[in-house]
Amino acid sequence: MSEKRTVPRHVAIIMDGNGRWAKQRGKERYEGHIEGVTSVREAVKSAVRNGVEYLTLYAFSTENWGRPAEEVEALMSLFCRSVINEAPELIAQGVRVKVIGHRSRFSRQVREHLEEIERSTAQGERLTLILAIDYSSRDEMTDAVRRIAREVAEGRLTPEEISVQTVGGSLYTAGIPDPDLIVRTGGESRLSNFLLWQASYAELYFPTLLWPDFREADFEEALRAYASRERRFGLVSDGVK
Ligand code: IPE
Ligand code: IPE
Ligand code: MG
Repeated sequence: MSEKRTVPRHVAIIMDGNGRWAKQRGKERYEGHIEGVTSVREAVKSAVRNGVEYLTLYAFSTENWGRPAEEVEALMSLFCRSVINEAPELIAQGVRVKVIGHRSRFSRQVREHLEEIERSTAQGERLTLILAIDYSSRDEMTDAVRRIAREVAEGRLTPEEISVQTVGGSLYTAGIPDPDLIVRTGGESRLSNFLLWQASYAELYFPTLLWPDFREADFEEALRAYASRERRFGLVSDGVK
């Protein structure tokens, strides 16, 4: 008899509310993003301590390129600084970093920093930290369709052979289990183009706290909320045990 898992294997977070946090304090929006890095650090620490195996953080959506240039630049430079500064602590905690998203639109400098953090943390075995940067779930699915169509066109796959596994295995998240818990801070109840395929049976949790205010205790509260949910996966209560 398999026991009900109370700790989510994979937690994904839409880190929202940095701009409002800054505005409430009369600061520039980028100062909210800077403060949000501390929340990232705490979420990682708590995930490691609680035995979460995968933590996905939505850091920058493809749509976010449309924000004012100063904000985009501040975010890019914050990504670079953060991956440099946090690398030793991530390595010490056994965290392996993987980046998902387009990549091709980043400057060479940003791309190199992201590649470097993936390289330097590659041995981590306790937690896989997935950074979704320039990420769009619809683009991810479109890319997957394109890849599968190419295989069919080249005669390596027939249309009948295309399965749920073929599609899932063609996404950026191939090999990563679906998120069990998706958290969006900041009070909005929407996914904003995040992990649409992978979220099929995720538990959704929408705290009103803004991301810079969401700290270790709040992450643990989210884990507790998850533990109290009954996941049925379309079955009836007795059937999930
Ligand atoms: C989330 O915070 C961070 C990013 C999208 C990069 P926002 O910047 O969206 O903050 P709000 O939602 O405007 O408060
Ligand atoms: C979602 O937040 C993207 C990230 C947190 C990186 P947004 O602030 O961009 O989403 P909307 O505009 O509220 O849907
Ligand atoms: Mg927002």
